[in-house]
Amino acid sequence: MLDLRAEFAAIEEEVRAAIEEVLASQQFILGPQNSAFEQELAQYCGRRFGIGVASGTDALMLALRACGVSGADEVIVPAFTFVATAGAVSALGARPVFADSHADTLNIDPESVESRITPRTKAIVAVHLYGLGANLESLLELAVHHNLALIEDNAQSLGGTYLGRKLGSFGEVAATSFYPSKNLGAFGDGGMVVTDSEPLTARLKKLRNHGQSGRYVSSEPGWNSRLDELQAAVLRVKLRHLDAWIAARRKHAARYTERFASFAGVRTPAAPAGYEHSYYLYTLRISSNGPKAGAANMASRCDRVAHHLSERGIASSVFYPVPLHLQPLYAALGGKPGDLPVAERAAHEVLSLPLYPTMTAEQIDRVADAVIEALQSQTGVTRSPGTTKSR
Ligand SMILES: Cc1ncc(COP(=O)(O)O)c(C=O)c1O
Repeated sequence: MLDLRAEFAAIEEEVRAAIEEVLASQQFILGPQNSAFEQELAQYCGRRFGIGVASGTDALMLALRACGVSGADEVIVPAFTFVATAGAVSALGARPVFADSHADTLNIDPESVESRITPRTKAIVAVHLYGLGANLESLLELAVHHNLALIEDNAQSLGGTYLGRKLGSFGEVAATSFYPSKNLGAFGDGGMVVTDSEPLTARLKKLRNHGQSGRYVSSEPGWNSRLDELQAAVLRVKLRHLDAWIAARRKHAARYTERFASFAGVRTPAAPAGYEHSYYLYTLRISSNGPKAGAANMASRCDRVAHHLSERGIASSVFYPVPLHLQPLYAALGGKPGDLPVAERAAHEVLSLPLYPTMTAEQIDRVADAVIEALQSQTGVTRSPGTTKSR
């Protein structure tokens, strides 16, 4: 799905120099690299403050906690996301309430959110999936109207924009992940919360460091969740390249889309008006098309494309095959098939293709050729001469 070695080769000298600097300083925790990176990433996201933490999951959990989420609260999250989004809510003893996705973007659907707001609702988590922003305007309206915190889960969409503003600059706080495969990936785990609020920043700095308000004085329960200096140093180097990498992702995505645009029943990822996609993932939606429609048929159609790619040594992946309301982890919450039809359908339709900045046009074409071969060999998914765009 990606080739981190190629990315490393392009920046190796810069990275080694940055690591050497940390080694020479022998300062590994909460030092100058972290502070500088906190400022740089906050600025990148159009925010005043950044708080470096140990992972994207911790960033979410600490952000929720700083916004006041605790035991009896409900937090509305999309069902179609990585489990960490809801896991961070559960880790605080609060209850995730799953909302459906919007059929066009697969991001959380504000109408579904609105129908799930109760007196116990404390926050909404807007996940920006695959590199594309959620419908922030409607979600912000709901949050303001119902006095809820809006938290952005920006683990997948650093560098994407909405109405000309960077994702991560809308909610009260935004959490991001530096998991190695992300658009901005560390050499291990890492995460950050960004915000404009001084009080929230102070609270988050306390929470990530054992609840300490002063040296060896703890005023509330906290965690050990800090971004270490080595990771911060690496990430500072990579941040300098991020915009160029995202531009390359967009170029590659456009090449894929050009190849797939005229297949009926195949939707290519596209940013609606007002959004810029950062293409963390290039995800096709291969839907039912014709009389054989049905969940099993859809699943197997997607599977068959994946199988065809795999036979040719090409990776592909399904993010995510089981929506969260149907995960065994959340069985006690009573979710059943049919509850969230858009999310459930998406889980059967999505297939992500290899995409990373250093990919060559030849590599893109090789993947595209194999996908097209697979589609053409299947009944029901055919080239439709009249269609130039899939949406
Ligand atoms: C949407 C989303 N939220 C949260 C996370 C958690 O981030 P991390 O793996 O850094 O804990 C991820 C990571 O894959 C993610 O994709």
